[in-house]
Amino acid sequence: MTADDHSGHTCRVCGGKVAEFIDLGQQPTANGFLLPHEADQVFLFRLAIGACESCTMVQLLDEVPQEFRYHADYRYHASGSASHRRHFQHNAERFLRTELTGPDPFIVEIGCNDGVLLGSIAAAGVRHLGVEPSTNVAEIAAAKGVRVVTEFFDESTAATIRAEHGTADVVFGANTICHIAHIGSVLRGLDTLLAPNGIFVFEEPYLGTLIDGLAFDQIYDEHVFYFSATSVRNMAEQYGLELVDAEHIPMHGGEIRYTLARAGARTPAPAVRLLLSDERTRRMSEPETFTTFGHTVTMIREDLLALLGELKAGGKRVVGYGAPAKCTTVTNYCGIGPDLVPFVCDSTPAKQGHLVPGSRLPVRPPTAFADPYPDYALLFSWNHAEEIMAKENDFRTAGGRWIHYVPEVRVR
Ligand code: SAH
Ligand code: TYD
Ligand code: ZN
Repeated sequence: MTADDHSGHTCRVCGGKVAEFIDLGQQPTANGFLLPHEADQVFLFRLAIGACESCTMVQLLDEVPQEFRYHADYRYHASGSASHRRHFQHNAERFLRTELTGPDPFIVEIGCNDGVLLGSIAAAGVRHLGVEPSTNVAEIAAAKGVRVVTEFFDESTAATIRAEHGTADVVFGANTICHIAHIGSVLRGLDTLLAPNGIFVFEEPYLGTLIDGLAFDQIYDEHVFYFSATSVRNMAEQYGLELVDAEHIPMHGGEIRYTLARAGARTPAPAVRLLLSDERTRRMSEPETFTTFGHTVTMIREDLLALLGELKAGGKRVVGYGAPAKCTTVTNYCGIGPDLVPFVCDSTPAKQGHLVPGSRLPVRPPTAFADPYPDYALLFSWNHAEEIMAKENDFRTAGGRWIHYVPEVRVR
């Protein structure tokens, strides 16, 4: 069997044995929002992750086929948050300043979504291509003047792109590479597509944030991999690539921006060595670390259910804030239904009027929040805490309190 023929507990990167360390139960697809009259999804899967005993890669044990996750009705719109728009605009400007300076530069983005990054590249008149299988968001990108193909990126799409457009100076992916179960095919595709001195830059949720920050709600069907510098370095080496930079970025509660180049093509930045040694010191990939994480998450579930139960018994009203994919994980794992949290507010029009998958919490627009304010707001979009709490300042002034559950349950 090759690493690509993943089945059971075999590592998708190296074929090694994956040891399970947390099971969050049967779950629907996290972004599969339902209409109120719709029955629950027929497709449930066991949401459990483990670490490869050989290359350390943390990954889902079972997976949902990609066609169930990415389709014409994909709910996540990257341009939904002001901080995301700013971040990707800066990213585009940085590429334009540093890597896309040759005679006719070319950048490919894997998972360009609604064109939040490539919109700025297109506006600068630089050659680009977005690869985006979810047609609804791809159409939004196209309307911004972004050139986009509605495909799943893999080695065969990479070959087609190379044949049509030549090699790429930059291949970029944000919050996408960890979604792709056939990662071996992606890396082989990069070998075809990257220019000799080209780079592959990807920004993804960090294993360190998951473990130390107890961000267990980052675990859901779309997040197949939970990268660390250690596992990314090992993965790159297997495919003739080298980890040449690794930067902490504040997105989604704490991510790493990895840069890979062809082995030997670029001098690794000192940050790579530092991060690798930091991960060793923190024992990030040790079995005991994973076991402790699993126990602590169980305690968070108990604490959160106890708090919500007490508030309900005391006649307090609790409303959810934000219906991110994370909300599906927490509510289904903890068994939080409309009896405890009657609805959640979310600014994404495509989610409003729908139900959170599995737990069936109705999603309402943010205007429902103040109509009238609840006593407590359970903050599911905790990675946007600053933006949301600032925007909803009147809620606190009116005596409302925020409930956080990551990294521990507390009321503020
Ligand atoms: N880059 C954006 C969007 C991330 S959402 C951001 O950071 O906010 C992940 C996106 O990856 C979705 O739009 C999904 O349709 C797309 N995607 C999933 N699998 C893919 C694949 N194999 N190739 C290209 N895009 C993929
Ligand atoms: P996000 O954390 O970006 O993604 P994921 O689904 O990957 O966990 O999702 C943020 C959600 O929070 C999104 O559904 C929009 C919502 N939101 C608001 O309702 N109000 C806000 O002010 C912000 C910033 C986000
Ligand atoms: Zn492995």
